[in-house]
Amino acid sequence: MRIRTFDEYQTAYQKSVDDPEEFWAEIAQNFQWRKPWTKTLQWNFSEPNIKWFIGGKLNITENCLDRHLIERGDQPAIIWEPNDPNEAGVTLTYRMLHDQVCRFANVLKRNGVVKGDRVCIYMPMVPELAIAVLACARIGAVHSVVFGGFSAQSIADRINDAQCKVVVTADGSYRGNKEIPLKSTVDDALIGCPSVQKVIVMTRTRTPVSMLKGRDIWWEQELKQVTADCPAEEMDAEDMLFILYTSGSTGKPKGVVHTCGGYMVYATYTFQNVFQYEPGQVFFCTADIGWITGHSYIVYGPLASGATSVIFEGVPTYPDCGRFWDITDKHNVNILYTAPTAIRSLMGFGLDKVENHDLSSLQVLGSVGEPINEEAWHWYDDNIGKNRCPIVDTWWQTETGGILISPLAGITKTKPTFATLPLPGVQPILVDENGKEIEGNGVSGNLCMKFPWPGILRTTYGDHERCRQTYFATYPGLYFTGDGCLRDEDGYYRITGRVDDVLNVSGHRIGTAEVENAINMHTGVVESAVVGYPHDIKGQGIYAYVITDQQPDGHDVELTKRDILATVTRVIGPIAKPDKIQFVTGLPKTRSGKIMRRILRKIAEGDTSNLGDTSTLLDPAVVDEIKAGAT
Ligand code: WT7
Repeated sequence: MRIRTFDEYQTAYQKSVDDPEEFWAEIAQNFQWRKPWTKTLQWNFSEPNIKWFIGGKLNITENCLDRHLIERGDQPAIIWEPNDPNEAGVTLTYRMLHDQVCRFANVLKRNGVVKGDRVCIYMPMVPELAIAVLACARIGAVHSVVFGGFSAQSIADRINDAQCKVVVTADGSYRGNKEIPLKSTVDDALIGCPSVQKVIVMTRTRTPVSMLKGRDIWWEQELKQVTADCPAEEMDAEDMLFILYTSGSTGKPKGVVHTCGGYMVYATYTFQNVFQYEPGQVFFCTADIGWITGHSYIVYGPLASGATSVIFEGVPTYPDCGRFWDITDKHNVNILYTAPTAIRSLMGFGLDKVENHDLSSLQVLGSVGEPINEEAWHWYDDNIGKNRCPIVDTWWQTETGGILISPLAGITKTKPTFATLPLPGVQPILVDENGKEIEGNGVSGNLCMKFPWPGILRTTYGDHERCRQTYFATYPGLYFTGDGCLRDEDGYYRITGRVDDVLNVSGHRIGTAEVENAINMHTGVVESAVVGYPHDIKGQGIYAYVITDQQPDGHDVELTKRDILATVTRVIGPIAKPDKIQFVTGLPKTRSGKIMRRILRKIAEGDTSNLGDTSTLLDPAVVDEIKAGAT
């Protein structure tokens, strides 16, 4: 299943288009199935209804753990690097990880979790997070990992949407010099979550926590009650593996659903090919397991490949801005996968903390989450890769399960800011607003996919119609990514950013509507409009225009802004806090009442010279007021 030359890539690509079923069936043979599938693919994008490896039975943890025991039982599966470099880390071999996953799976079972139940996981970046994820998969429970930075309200929304039976959390987490309470946030969330029967609490920070009798139990004590014997549940290829919530242009975050067979095959195939993973290599993905990048390329892809995966608890700037390079040297990292926002922020500190590192273990560098600008690409290439490590700019989404467009490391000729070419099995198409295909090279349009790959989402949890509406209805017969894209003269793809009302702030996906709803919850706020603007480090910053019933002035301006930020933090979490707030008396609206975001975006960008056609505005004067008050 490994492609080794550009010729092989082209051959594989052609085959994947000519005979996708045969192509993926051959790849899927490399996994351990309890029962083979009877039909490789059945699909339509109209309902949508997508099924891969129909009738196949498996358990993904047998592929990630059991099957490695004989050959690499004593090889590290996970290397854990704690927040504090002076604290001892943990290395778990495949044997140890297998043992711990089985034990925790038994803990879940003993607490009433059965196949199909949903389990919410709200944890720090510790090995126990991966263990909890895999333990769910072991017994066929569906995990829903919620990033540790989300608020109680966000946790409650996600728990209620999925009707989770159990929550797995920790007392607190360490991030840089901060200690963040997790259990108390879960306690706040659970006031409104009747489906939750048990909360399993791991000790990390030893911060005081309340433990409710009959509901809350300690991870460590539970483990004393179980054995390490836990046969894996037999799962259908199309049984749900996990739900992961992600933001869209409207409403509350949706629960993207991935299933066992296709997701496993796709995450693993892309891991091995994009990074050109070789047995024995150490892979360090700096994402949080709370995002899809962590699911696919910290946990499932690397472990199904028998790789050694680094889990880092902390932040890139603690204790100083050389931390990624410390970790790289300490653990002899061969492949480093990080986000442009991290690169840009580290660039700002200069080279002092880079040059005192060796970094000679590095062989491949990856980028993910947002467009990488040329300056950051070169800084990464020159100073980290020393111009000898290929950079893979990997484009994909929560919904795609794995990387769709990316160079294959060392095989595909790279070009800064281009994700380059589709992986085998991926059939991109650019369309105009009317859904008409834009053919040829040197063109741009809306990025869609015309054929399914095994890792594509199957539904949005509890609301299939929303899945259809969001991804398959804009351009009938196509999966719409929400991204704009350029295809250059060489046929290379460059993702230009979202074309919908979704922001990408430091690689975090946030819906403008979500932020508006949070702001509107603040007392006195009448209406708000949120747009993105270019931000040197974050990629995009959040700009909020806010109408209040009484315009604040003097001292009150700053105080009200502060309170609005507190409200957004409480409703969503600190990642959604606006960078700029401007109080206005009106918003530019068309006669039909639609906010003209185009104008607000321009003003937020600081480009007020050419606002385009404003003749359809209900009250053009409001634009002058907003321009004058722009921050
Ligand atoms: C959106 C998906 C799955 C990776 C983590 C983010 C943007 C992602 C790239 C890239 C340009 C990128 C897109 C996409 N994006 N990778 N290499 N170049 N843009 O997953 O939270 O689901 O966000 O991130 O806009 O639609 P996500």
